[in-house]
Amino acid sequence: MSAPGPRYGSHPFYLNIEDVTTGTSNGVFLLNSNAMDVLLQPEPAITYRPIGGILDMFVFLGPKPDDVVRQYIHLIGLPELPPFWALGYHQCRCCTEPHTLANQKLITERTISAGIPFDVQWNAKEYMEPTFDDFTIDQKRFGGFADWVRHLHDIGMHYVPIVDPGIDPAQKAGQYAPYDDGVSMDIFIKNNTGGIFIGKTWQTSGKTVYPDFSHPGSIKYWTKQYQEFHNQVPIDGSWNDMNEVDNFLSASIYGCPANNSLETPPYLPKQLPKIQDQTLCMSAKQYAGLHYNVHNLYAFYMAIATDEALKTVRNKRPFVISRATSPGQGKYSGHWNGDTDTTYGELKWTIGSVLDMNMFGIPLAGGDICGFMGHSENNTHGQELCARWLEVGAFYPFSRNHNTKIMDQDPVALGTMVTRAAKNALSTRYTLLPYLYTLFYHAKTNGDTVSRPLFFEYPADKHTYERTVAETQFMWGSAFMVAPFM
Ligand code: NOJ
Repeated sequence: MSAPGPRYGSHPFYLNIEDVTTGTSNGVFLLNSNAMDVLLQPEPAITYRPIGGILDMFVFLGPKPDDVVRQYIHLIGLPELPPFWALGYHQCRCCTEPHTLANQKLITERTISAGIPFDVQWNAKEYMEPTFDDFTIDQKRFGGFADWVRHLHDIGMHYVPIVDPGIDPAQKAGQYAPYDDGVSMDIFIKNNTGGIFIGKTWQTSGKTVYPDFSHPGSIKYWTKQYQEFHNQVPIDGSWNDMNEVDNFLSASIYGCPANNSLETPPYLPKQLPKIQDQTLCMSAKQYAGLHYNVHNLYAFYMAIATDEALKTVRNKRPFVISRATSPGQGKYSGHWNGDTDTTYGELKWTIGSVLDMNMFGIPLAGGDICGFMGHSENNTHGQELCARWLEVGAFYPFSRNHNTKIMDQDPVALGTMVTRAAKNALSTRYTLLPYLYTLFYHAKTNGDTVSRPLFFEYPADKHTYERTVAETQFMWGSAFMVAPFM
């Protein structure tokens, strides 16, 4: 697999450097949520080719790169300040093996005992009942979950679980409130004939329905689910996964309507094998419009509902990390950049991705430290890659180690060298946390970036635009530069 592509978000904004000896720049934003191609040929040209929606273009005159970005962020909305603890080191793993709280505790405890600066423990769907239903707890394998989260709080840590948008419609009536409430509040996305749209994600029932977060009742619906879960386990934030919105069937369980121009549009953006690829039918209906038009806003609406739910439930500044994003989402969530491979190439790619997100007004961004997929051997190569990734990831604004099933990749699991790298790099991060937090304050109040390319600070230095520099080195604000070994 190569680095996650545009499936995770759509930000039709560009920053154009007109002259690398002065840094004179401009930018353009196309406020359009439809699928589109963006073509850069013939040079110098850019063509936006959306397949629907409105054509509202905004032009930003800078004149310097950071001015353009600030002007853009003021238009789409200033990002929110994350809670201070969210700037600490986070650790997760999808599907710890064995899949038990006892095993999770072991990993958490060995990280703490090693003296690694560590603030937030996460879990993917292993805490859920084996049906993989949101807002449920596997009492057998995760018994004692609430007490453990309270213990984490007692030692000054925080806890964040995964929450997918998809809800299981196949539980017994009266036994699964997230579905029953959604039906009684009429919250779920509909198919073109008005029935509830049924697709499929992780639920073992093989059926998934999707809350329509553009529906005005969705905040009340979603808050109720978080409240009921929080009454059991006092979680501190939400990890919004699978919210592009993902659907393994690329259709409903009944397919998508045939002979319908929404399902087979006359022009198909080049990266898509089909318009419904890994998502819902385009003729599915949401409160805000046809899925064809609002698909790219799904995670944005979900972030608003989650942000509101957490504010109500915790009465504190919310913390939400979302896989999918669109313009303006920085007010409601941060972002991690999805399923990377565990390679040096993808490590490098995450740097550009974090810088992009900062230019999109979502400064709380980071990649999965040590890579998500493919780390299959605890050998010298794997250890060195993870150590180097920790040294870069300690300077992602959002710093979380996370991977999938194959093996443990918390620093202690990978041995002394990786543990030492984690301690060193994260200790430097922790020394700088007041500075980092101040940068987030400037992002919220001025629309500044937190992580930024060197040419934001030195726009008249043409070397800062060279790919080797622009894609691998970066700044935190104007005073701290990171130049990883690549
Ligand atoms: C996909 C996410 O990208 C990944 O980070 C997560 O661990 C799994 N879903 C969990 O289901």
